[in-house]
Amino acid sequence: MTTVGIIGINGKVGQNVLAQLKKVKTPFELKTFGRNDEIPALDIAVLCTDNPVSAALVPQLKNRVKFMVDMSSEFRQTPGVPLVIPEINPHTITAHTQLIASPNCTTTGLVMSLAPLAPFYHLTEAFFCSYQAISGGGKKLLDDFHTPGSLYANNCVPLIGSVQANGHTSEELKGLYETRKIMGWPHFKVYCHTVRVAVENAHSLGVTLKAQENFDLDQVKKLWNAWPNLVYKEGIITPKEASGQEDTFICRLRADVEDPKIIHYFVTFDNLLKGAAMNGRQIVEYLLEHFFK
Ligand SMILES: NC(=O)c1ccc[n+]([C@@H]2O[C@H](COP(=O)([O-])OP(=O)(O)OC[C@H]3O[C@@H](n4cnc5c(N)ncnc54)[C@H](OP(=O)(O)O)[C@@H]3O)[C@@H](O)[C@H]2O)c1
Repeated sequence: MTTVGIIGINGKVGQNVLAQLKKVKTPFELKTFGRNDEIPALDIAVLCTDNPVSAALVPQLKNRVKFMVDMSSEFRQTPGVPLVIPEINPHTITAHTQLIASPNCTTTGLVMSLAPLAPFYHLTEAFFCSYQAISGGGKKLLDDFHTPGSLYANNCVPLIGSVQANGHTSEELKGLYETRKIMGWPHFKVYCHTVRVAVENAHSLGVTLKAQENFDLDQVKKLWNAWPNLVYKEGIITPKEASGQEDTFICRLRADVEDPKIIHYFVTFDNLLKGAAMNGRQIVEYLLEHFFK
């Protein structure tokens, strides 16, 4: 029977991948691994580990694991490594692929809103400001958040990841470069600020999007609602409701006051689910379906 292993089982993403894989209908044998566990030969390994751990594990596992799905950002920009959201670009996985990267959670929320519109509008640029949950920083940040005196309590902190030489953070650059890679749009502009807010779970984005054509708001809502795992809500929806849900939610769509080629909207979704574990489960389902039957 096909074997699927979760590496990093005790982390936030690892635990959520475990719950997600229990939903998979195709039969397979599940194995889980924590720090210091010996990893045997596997058909599929889901690496729920930080960058340095994934960087060390991938070359070690290369000869004994057929497909590796990595949740970290270590290999996302490596040429030949597909960066996959199954609703958008599963075709980038082939029988010769060995390593598949699962995208940054915040970028996932943005591209889920872009992809349904792409066949009908020439999208040229997006601006977003993120409102990112504490759980996006894993167990350590959650512990920090629950410690009295935490910087994150009752606050918003405009720094996620590390500040690069150009002044942008690593998280902001993921918003730009991962969007380009997933969508296959090397010149698409993404301008962003990424901010950590005192919300325990579920990320949000305020997005401004520009196209070459005038937007038809009713058509945009219809396109979003027709897309798998994406829901447009009239009224508002907040991260509190999105937490624990598999759908990505959009609300507050409106045309720009002066330019009909610009729309503004709010996106909210569970960063541990569609932003990580659910996306990982969908990739595993795709692999089981296409390469193990
Ligand atoms: N959190 C999110 O919303 C999110 C979204 C998208 C992507 N990601 C990415 O997913 C990865 C995991 O994130 P997380 O939030 O789950 O972090 P986390 O809660 O800190 O979990 C990381 C886990 O890796 C384990 N680990 C460390 N070294 C290991 C080794 N050599 N072998 C096996 N396991 C090892 C740790 O073990 P111990 O328990 O022993 O410390 C810990 O359980 C990161 O790369 C992160 O950037 C996270």
